[in-house]
Amino acid sequence: AEKKMWGGRFRQKTAALVEEYTQSVSYDRLMYRQDIAGSKAHARMLARQGVISQDDADKIVSGLAQIQEEIESGNFVWRREMEDVHMNIESRLSELVGDAGKRLHTGRSRNDQVALDFRLYVSDAIREWQEQIRAVIAELVKQAEHHVDTLLPGCTHMQPAQPVSLGHHLLAYAWMLRRDYDRIADCDKRTRVCPLGAAALAGTTYPLDPASVAEELGMFGTFRNSMDAVSDRDFALESMFCGSLIMAHLSRFCEELIIWANPNFGYIYLPDAYATGSSIMPQKKNPDVAEIMRGKVGRVYGALTTLLTTVKGLPMTYNRDLQEDKEPFMDADKTVSNSLALMAGMLSELRFNTQRMAMVMRSGFLNATELADYLVGKGVPFREAHHITGAAVALAEDKGKALEDLSLDEFRSVSELITDDVYTVLAYETAVARRKTQGGTGPDSVRAQLAELAAWLA
Ligand code: ARG
Repeated sequence: AEKKMWGGRFRQKTAALVEEYTQSVSYDRLMYRQDIAGSKAHARMLARQGVISQDDADKIVSGLAQIQEEIESGNFVWRREMEDVHMNIESRLSELVGDAGKRLHTGRSRNDQVALDFRLYVSDAIREWQEQIRAVIAELVKQAEHHVDTLLPGCTHMQPAQPVSLGHHLLAYAWMLRRDYDRIADCDKRTRVCPLGAAALAGTTYPLDPASVAEELGMFGTFRNSMDAVSDRDFALESMFCGSLIMAHLSRFCEELIIWANPNFGYIYLPDAYATGSSIMPQKKNPDVAEIMRGKVGRVYGALTTLLTTVKGLPMTYNRDLQEDKEPFMDADKTVSNSLALMAGMLSELRFNTQRMAMVMRSGFLNATELADYLVGKGVPFREAHHITGAAVALAEDKGKALEDLSLDEFRSVSELITDDVYTVLAYETAVARRKTQGGTGPDSVRAQLAELAAWLA
């Protein structure tokens, strides 16, 4: 067995199950790039500060570059008995460059090292989410551009409410995701902060220059309190919350796609590449991608809850419990990232059955509000107009007609104030076009939204 890096005071070999139970290299090796970047920056800083020689720093940096190549070409041997990514890389470095490698850890602890690696890893991941969000928004914008004037029965309580532009409906999701994007940018300001120099918990006696390390690593700044720096994982929690909201938003859209794909709605044609069939029912085309995405939300919420539970009640400062921070985040990352990529792909292929939407539009009295507003225009108090319109709806329902199919005589049986001009008012296009106020469903508003989002995407 290898000699443990921390093995100086130990006389007994670690129990096999303990080794297996405590190792993290099986998953934290995914952080190798961040670990190597952090170590290179640390070594260069040590040399600048005269803590190690420039020659040692050069050896460390080139040794680390070689290790990165070994890892990326699949030639690096990961050892579980070396516990984690940090010690695996450091022990290989010492093999490669001898004493210089053994000087790398000067003024550093795995506690600030792992905090740095994980912060960079999380930051890199959520920045990737941002790019993927941007791609989904771009697809939503593309679809919405085609469907500014396509009308869709807008629902509240999942019941027909008022006609809306399909473009408007799709852009609702674009704005949700746009806020997710901004939320990540804000979260990243707190995530991409350098804890190096905190050492184990108390700071260090070496004359380190943490600010220069932070700058080299493209971070926003440095820690202010060494104990805080090695012990909090709020950045990971906040990131998983951002991921949770992304998933919540995606799952709402998935739910709508699933409903719209049902032939009783029939608003969309599911792209073959994003659907699957049934092993028994030959006619089936199921929206499995949307269903799985809706289902995977639980994993991300679960990851957030897992880590919230892990950090609860932890005393200062670093506690090994914190090693349980990575797997939840890595799983959440995979889920969020794959979901965003799939949503962009699915959206790019999605086609709408606009005729079907127009047909369904006629069957839910979605223009009832228009009739009430029309009566208000004739001087009827709104509450009374509401009542009269209700009577018109009941009449139309009895006759099995839409409101706009009632004859003028039929209309007049509920109110003498109704005249021929009512039919223009009842047209669904009119209802949408008249909603001109900012953020409303009228075409001008939808075009203004499109312009704003297009400018943001550019
Ligand atoms: N693998 C550990 C983790 O993920 C690294 C830090 C270990 N530090 C320590 N003092 N044992 O948290």
